[in-house]
Amino acid sequence: MKTSALFTPHQIGSISITNRVLMAPMTRSRTAQPGDIPTDLMADYYAQRAGAGLIISEATQISAQGKGYSFTPGIYTKQQISGWQKVTRKVHAAQGKIFSQLWHVGRMSHAVFHEDDLPVAPSAIAPDAQVWIVGEDGEGRMLDCPTPRELEYAEIKSIVKNYQQAAKNAMLAGFDGVEIHGANGYLIDQFLRRSSNHRDDKFGGSIDNRMRFAIDVVETVCTAIGADKVGIRLAPFITQRGMQDDEITDTILAVAKKLNKLGVAYIHLSEADWEEAPVVPEKFRHDLRAAFSGTIIVAGNYTAESGANLIEQGLADAVAFGRKFIANPDLPARFANNWPLDDISDNDTLFGGNEKGYTDYTNYMAANV
Ligand SMILES: Cc1cc2nc3c(=O)[nH]c(=O)nc-3n(C[C@H](O)[C@H](O)[C@H](O)COP(=O)(O)O)c2cc1C
Repeated sequence: MKTSALFTPHQIGSISITNRVLMAPMTRSRTAQPGDIPTDLMADYYAQRAGAGLIISEATQISAQGKGYSFTPGIYTKQQISGWQKVTRKVHAAQGKIFSQLWHVGRMSHAVFHEDDLPVAPSAIAPDAQVWIVGEDGEGRMLDCPTPRELEYAEIKSIVKNYQQAAKNAMLAGFDGVEIHGANGYLIDQFLRRSSNHRDDKFGGSIDNRMRFAIDVVETVCTAIGADKVGIRLAPFITQRGMQDDEITDTILAVAKKLNKLGVAYIHLSEADWEEAPVVPEKFRHDLRAAFSGTIIVAGNYTAESGANLIEQGLADAVAFGRKFIANPDLPARFANNWPLDDISDNDTLFGGNEKGYTDYTNYMAANV
């Protein structure tokens, strides 16, 4: 099948991309401790994948409160910003482009990250989910998320400011733009859904109220760095982590209309990626296209063929690949030349650890000439 649609240039807001094979954001939990600081090894990992039309960084906490997993990076201290500078310099030196994914986990967290205080959320409802935590013995375990504390009205404003500062920090760190993480059951998603948001102030209740936090964040980030450098990730079809809400597609379409007015660069759909997940309804794709005139990125179990097919139908502009980019640093070249793909060799190396399973995957040409 033809995959040439993946290899035409495209404009995403202020940046031009030379191919539409993007690297999806992926947490790999390899920061330096203490301080959640990006390392030289992370710079090598991202630079190896600079052939992507655009790299979206792993989720990166905007504040200490926004953290929910061990060893994930932050972007709110000087040391973290200089760590990221090493990453962006190396990616740019390899002709790549990279956005920072800005993250606040909300209730997807644990008291161990907050000096025994509870994680925060729109409402005090436990997520029926677990987070990955490395104990003092050095062993990683999945631990249940506790019932979070409901955010006070005034605190919500200060979190919005944290997003703005993090976006400015991302610019200082040399990123080409930011992706606001509004997907996968994290804080912004928690505000969007009736299952996790039972507030009775202006951040809860109607669709307009539930989307207010997302829009406030996007607006303030756009004011700080320019809408043409801002994208957002949304996940209309996840149901796990206590996120089931049959009004979510209407809510997300309402968000998309508002984002269109704000002129943000892209919407990135995090689609269902597990085996036998529901297929995204064709109608939703058309509705999203009608609501939003910027770039639409899709991700979740795509192949080169299925991605190119969606671009040809006009229902997406670019495709982000996750797991395939882990095992194939030269993924766009493999797609372009029809070279075989490697598989992830060891799932235990996905989160945490060293260069094993991280920077030791090879380019096809290097391994086969
Ligand atoms: C190891 C791993 C870490 C991930 N971390 C993130 C993350 O930090 N932020 C995010 O939005 N999605 C994250 N995801 C989801 C991916 O971005 C992507 O949507 C998913 O892997 C489906 O794409 P794929 O089938 O091409 O792998 C992660 C996925 C994997 C496999």
